Amino acid sequence: MLPHPAAPGDPVWHVAPDRGWLNDPNGLVVVDGRWHVFHQYHPDSDRWGPMHWGHVSSTDGLHWRRHPIALAPDRLGTIFSGSVVIDRENTAGFGADAWVAFFTHHAGERQHQSVAWSADGDRWTKYAGNPVLPGEGPDFRDPKVVRLPDGRWSMVVTMADHLAFFVSSDLLHWTPSGGFRADLGDAVGNWECPDVVPLGDGRWLLVISLSTGGPAGHSGTVVVPGRFDGAHFEATGDPVPLDRGPDCYAFQTFWNAGDAHPVGMAWLSSWRYANEIPSAGRRGLLSVPRRLRWDDGDVLRTWPAVSPANVVERGWRWVVEEGDAVVELAGGGGAVRAGVSNGEAFVERSGGFADGYDGRFAAPVEDGGSTLIVVDQGGVEVFAAGGRVTVSAQTFVGPTPHVRVHVP
Ligand code: FRU
Repeated sequence: MLPHPAAPGDPVWHVAPDRGWLNDPNGLVVVDGRWHVFHQYHPDSDRWGPMHWGHVSSTDGLHWRRHPIALAPDRLGTIFSGSVVIDRENTAGFGADAWVAFFTHHAGERQHQSVAWSADGDRWTKYAGNPVLPGEGPDFRDPKVVRLPDGRWSMVVTMADHLAFFVSSDLLHWTPSGGFRADLGDAVGNWECPDVVPLGDGRWLLVISLSTGGPAGHSGTVVVPGRFDGAHFEATGDPVPLDRGPDCYAFQTFWNAGDAHPVGMAWLSSWRYANEIPSAGRRGLLSVPRRLRWDDGDVLRTWPAVSPANVVERGWRWVVEEGDAVVELAGGGGAVRAGVSNGEAFVERSGGFADGYDGRFAAPVEDGGSTLIVVDQGGVEVFAAGGRVTVSAQTFVGPTPHVRVHVP
């Protein structure tokens, strides 16, 4: 098949597959200063299919190199989303400093939590006792593991409309400890990819991805502030959107990137059209690594955790301004305007490439402050008002669009 004229070329700063299909970031971990990103991957087609874990890594969190496929389907099923921890003290018995991956085995109408381990992140061995948490139904997935302050391990798993918590002392034997339920609205779809994130001072953030809970029926992600003890998550404020754009989903934080100010990445797409968007033989990209801060007054701030040495590379750019700035892109039959102006952070897209693609996605910006627009092949990320508002979107303007920046 010919590439679609609006399909992007290789992103400069964003993780994207060489071929095939990518969705959620998985197993985010920093080891010896290197950022490792595993991700949902279907190497044989640019549509979602039997899931694997792909793997890329980077020394600066911006330029990525490919590693071999980490996990492939086996007799227990295909490999859905999950997380990685470094087991410094050998609690599981795979050796000190082993990388331990938790993922969902997806087998038709059943989903189970399973384990794999590695000494180097490249060669993985699936645990012989899998699954470590057998499931009974079709929605029991996306294990995220974190260490509690008392030394126990905690796992959170989604069950479509609520979360289940488990605890363990050895990463292999898990006991149910509690759950989380909340009314997040009628139109949110499935809860997916939960993350319980320590802020290092007794406060925690709960991140939940909602398959149709974003703007205009797109996938979306919410963040809930609260307290967590491994059994109960007690919300201390209302859920806030992580991002106001159509494409920011399955956000997960890194193991080892600094607990007090957690850093994570999202899939820059939406289930509403992920399989239909323009393709040149591959679909999907991830956000740049973003640092979350939760300020007094329940204000969430999000800002890139990394920044490039040169803000222009191969014609793509980071636009950094105080206050208003707008970028315009056009090519391949598509057009995009994005940035901050007239008291709003926004992305506007046209081209008619998929149902739900065209439109204006905007949020008010009240107090001014710094603006950063990351403009790359395949996507724009607008950080406004010092990170109090972000708007992220995939963009289809071909590999060599016309790019203009306006700063009033
Ligand atoms: C979220 C999700 C996860 C699942 C994975 C499958 O985008 O639906 O819940 O593990 O994608 O690829």
